[in-house]
Amino acid sequence: MITTALTHRFGLTTPVIGAPMAGVAGGGLAAAVSLAGGLGTIGISGKHGVDFLAEQCAVPAGSGMPFGVGLMVWTLADRPDLLEATIAARPDLVSVSFGDPAPYVGPLHDAGIAVAAQVNTVADARLALDAGVDVLVAQGTEAGGHTGHRSLLPLLQEVLALTDRPVVAAGGIVTGRGMAAALAAGASGVWIGTALLSCTEGLNSAAARERVREATGEETVLTRAFDVAEGLAWPERWPGRALVNDFSRAWHGREQELVDDPDARQLVVAGRETGNPVTAPVYAGEAVGLVTTERSATDVVRDLDAAAEQALRAVARLLG
Ligand SMILES: Cc1cc2nc3c(=O)[nH]c(=O)nc-3n(C[C@H](O)[C@H](O)[C@H](O)COP(=O)(O)O)c2cc1C
Repeated sequence: MITTALTHRFGLTTPVIGAPMAGVAGGGLAAAVSLAGGLGTIGISGKHGVDFLAEQCAVPAGSGMPFGVGLMVWTLADRPDLLEATIAARPDLVSVSFGDPAPYVGPLHDAGIAVAAQVNTVADARLALDAGVDVLVAQGTEAGGHTGHRSLLPLLQEVLALTDRPVVAAGGIVTGRGMAAALAAGASGVWIGTALLSCTEGLNSAAARERVREATGEETVLTRAFDVAEGLAWPERWPGRALVNDFSRAWHGREQELVDDPDARQLVVAGRETGNPVTAPVYAGEAVGLVTTERSATDVVRDLDAAAEQALRAVARLLG
């Protein structure tokens, strides 16, 4: 069994956190990750209502599983109801990412809830530490979904040098070898998203899962084109890593023109509605080429844990 500061803190049997992924990670996926001994989380965006949030949280909570909720800071100023509903759902962990977590740490701590924040730069990490965040998540640019521009390993090493608090690694971790590498580097756990994109418990469509299974690691693009098309107020410093498709091929790098082209923007909105991955974004990270089968998230996490243990034993043998 792999034990770290993270497993001790949350009573886990493996140091794996299922990433909050709005539109993919609901209560079913979170519960499946937690069933394997990790910590599953639920992704909440500014489009979600509080009823959805409460329903999804009730799934892992109802079966006595630990769970977390992932909020996006930039949505919370207009949506204080999301923070209130999150606190009311009594998760074990709340991540407040993509913005300054400071205003949200106090209310969450007052409710006895641990706080995580994904960080993309050293300045972000300092901000999170000053705010009193309990778990820092170094999110590399390899990650699927919205992310920064720094690679995981250098960022992780710099963040680890700043703090004794648990630091978790996010971005590109799909195999036991990848997980072992992050732990060997000093991370207290891994935060996996892309590895869970073809799971039976996900909220994503069958077409999106199929696209994920077919994609190679060379087929991702870090772009703002989808956010501009969807009219989302994502701060510019966090573009999204998605699978390339017809829309990104046409519009990535031409975001300014896209602002003035409602017909082109409508392609993404319609693609979202019909679940068409040719124009709608399928967010996924650089390790997507390793996701080739549709499986339960419980099996994904159990196998990841077993393979990481094996890889760590192999590393230990190098010492002779
Ligand atoms: C489809 C998708 C949706 C995501 N949505 C969110 C989200 O709602 N909130 C969040 O904090 N991070 C979100 N992320 C980022 C993840 O939390 C995490 O950093 C990332 O998946 C880790 O890298 P990996 O995908 O290579 O495992 C999302 C990622 C993906 C792939």
